[in-house]
Amino acid sequence: MTNIQELSAFATRIAREAGAIAMEGFRNRELGIDLKADFHDMVTKYDRACEEHIRGAILEAYPGSTIVGEEDGASEGSGPLAWHIDPIDGTANFARGMALWAVSIGIARDGEMIVGVVYDPANDHMFMADDRGAFLNDEPMRSWGFTRPEQATVVLNFPLPRDLVHLPELALEQFTEASRQFAQVRALGSSCISLCWVAAGWVDATVSFEANSWDVAASAFIVRQAGGAYRSYLGGEEQPPERDYLNPHYYATVPGGDYPILEQIMLTQSERPLPADHPAAALLTTPNS
Ligand code: IPD
Ligand code: CA
Ligand code: CA
Repeated sequence: MTNIQELSAFATRIAREAGAIAMEGFRNRELGIDLKADFHDMVTKYDRACEEHIRGAILEAYPGSTIVGEEDGASEGSGPLAWHIDPIDGTANFARGMALWAVSIGIARDGEMIVGVVYDPANDHMFMADDRGAFLNDEPMRSWGFTRPEQATVVLNFPLPRDLVHLPELALEQFTEASRQFAQVRALGSSCISLCWVAAGWVDATVSFEANSWDVAASAFIVRQAGGAYRSYLGGEEQPPERDYLNPHYYATVPGGDYPILEQIMLTQSERPLPADHPAAALLTTPNS
């Protein structure tokens, strides 16, 4: 069986290589931008080049791997390792010149997360977690922060346009209420950076809906290995932790974080249908439905 620390060293190396490819395009005006689902959802030639590099390196070193990547979809392998890859998380920031994006690589063995790597090359932040714990640029990293809303900073990636499809008035009321209750509210435009900043103790909580495994697999594991809390939701209920990187809605906090308004947002807003093409849509289908 492959040693976990060998895998984390490998994932760190390929994240650094992909980061260098992406940096060639950062603040460059020749990005080859295409739209995907709608005008809120873009991709550049650098997203594709980074994913191609990462996939090629994985399949050469670990043939038989399953790879689930944002740009090229899922390719099923026969081995125990599954790699959840977002070549650039925060593409809209990347494309506009904002240094809030990262390469994200999460590795699961037989479904259980064992390695998470998130590399933010513009700031040279290498977040990594494996069986030794969580690290930032090779230094041990422990989450900490403010556990009450009036002192806390929340990265509220909500409501986004897709959140305003379901219960728009409630969503706007909840945003207003959170803005009143928290010391600071931010939206960063990158799920993995938001989660790693909770892990680093730079912000206190974060919330988002309709994420994919490639957005969160690495950084949810980093939050937990740093001592923070990561909870996933589906169908209006908090879900058990097993394989919860497959669940679409999440809420993460520093240790001891207690923010009832965010729990209320999770419970009410996770009770939504998912688009048919969302990988988690099948999880909502019960045998009787
Ligand atoms: C997006 C970012 C954003 C989140 C979206 C993601 P992308 O990823 O993480 O913060 O709200 O759900 O799709 O498209 O930049 O990889
Ligand atoms: Ca993403
Ligand atoms: Ca992406």
